[in-house]
Amino acid sequence: MTTVNSEKLSSARFAEATDAFVEVFTASVDFDQRMAAQDIQGSIAHATMLAKVGILTDTERDAIIGGLNQVQQEILSGEFVWSIKQEDVHMNIEARLTELIGIAGKKLHTGRSRNDQVATDIRLYLRHEINQILAQLVRLQTAILDLAEQHADTIMPGFTHLQVAQPITFGHHLMAWFEMLVRDKERLEDCCKRVNIMPLGAAALAGTSYPIDRFMTAELLGFSRPSANSLDSVSDRDFAIEFAAAASIIMMHLSRFSEELILWSSAQFDFIDMPDAFCTGSSIMPQKKNPDVPELVRGKSGRVTGHLVALLMLMKSQPLAYNKDNQEDKEPLFDTADTLINCLRAYADMVPHIRAKTANMYNSAKRGFATATDLADYLVRKGMAFRDAHEVVGLAVRLGLETGRDLSDIPLAELHQFSGLITEEVFTYLTLEGSVAARKHIGGTAPETVKKAIAVARLAMLP
Ligand code: ARG
Repeated sequence: MTTVNSEKLSSARFAEATDAFVEVFTASVDFDQRMAAQDIQGSIAHATMLAKVGILTDTERDAIIGGLNQVQQEILSGEFVWSIKQEDVHMNIEARLTELIGIAGKKLHTGRSRNDQVATDIRLYLRHEINQILAQLVRLQTAILDLAEQHADTIMPGFTHLQVAQPITFGHHLMAWFEMLVRDKERLEDCCKRVNIMPLGAAALAGTSYPIDRFMTAELLGFSRPSANSLDSVSDRDFAIEFAAAASIIMMHLSRFSEELILWSSAQFDFIDMPDAFCTGSSIMPQKKNPDVPELVRGKSGRVTGHLVALLMLMKSQPLAYNKDNQEDKEPLFDTADTLINCLRAYADMVPHIRAKTANMYNSAKRGFATATDLADYLVRKGMAFRDAHEVVGLAVRLGLETGRDLSDIPLAELHQFSGLITEEVFTYLTLEGSVAARKHIGGTAPETVKKAIAVARLAMLP
């Protein structure tokens, strides 16, 4: 960043120059220049409104808009000189505008303050980011649906306590991930409703004595409405906290997916093969293929939750209205959006290339006595009380363990010693296929149900 000599902001009030360290310490231009496009967009709308209500002449408005467009070009081309003497993005742009167009540039700030300006910029920025994030989230949802469709019939063990519990289909497991993302999407969309409200016009805190038309500015900027209370408008950062909360939940979900992918790709589970392009080798152990992308995503979930906590702590003791503390909202917010979008993108790119090792999944379900509950349910249907059935099946599992056989591999004659109620048809329930097929109610793991759930999800995703 380059610095240029410029007058101190509001310098007339001050007898002394700002301490050199304080100038650096209080400046935000290093990071808030990222909102330059939104700042210019907001200023163009503000100037347009000021001319409409007669505060600026049409000539002044046109000069301002022309100048701001030039500033935008300079920023895009990299020739714009950012200065910490001008403290933040807002003052930098206004100072350059005035350099370019003279007196009309000094009139732009009529009827507004940096307090409502910065609140407007952040909301415009966040609205844009949320739309980018939603696009990546939908890509990931689509990738999950496609993989689930390929594996609606693929049998794997379902776990509780990370112990084999009951057989499920891989498609069903993937659709659980999908459901988490459905809620995540709803949360982001809901948060966006509160992001999309316009603070401009609140000025420093009390509003302005100029006859501004806030509805017009809101419409020009695509906001749903002007905010209802000027004090609240300049101090409210709830929308950023809500976004960070929604982002933290998404990252928590991605972290859980990551944990499963990491476990499944280990030699001990060996359920999936991760795409080479998303893994790295070890510098010392030639055999290694490390699931770096899921590991990094799991790791990054921590920093996003950290940002949520930082934003909550930032706000918790602030009296109304604007306080300089609020300048600290940007870095956590920007990093939350960047991290989230990158993680979703990595996942959306990676998921289509995950290869399921279906035979290993199947054999693992078979080794874990996953159909023990099905045997108990079978006995209950034959008239046994569930607790007794639980006992009987426990004995059968013990025999299986001792003799190294799955329940479905123990002959009828041997099963009979545990209960006379057991007959030949039991084997249709003891197989993995029979077990999953029986769970065909809505929300169940049966292949036919999973296929229906995928079809319903695809319909719901249509724009
Ligand atoms: N850079 C400031 C921020 O990020 C802009 C608003 C400054 N307002 C003020 N009264 N100092 O919050």
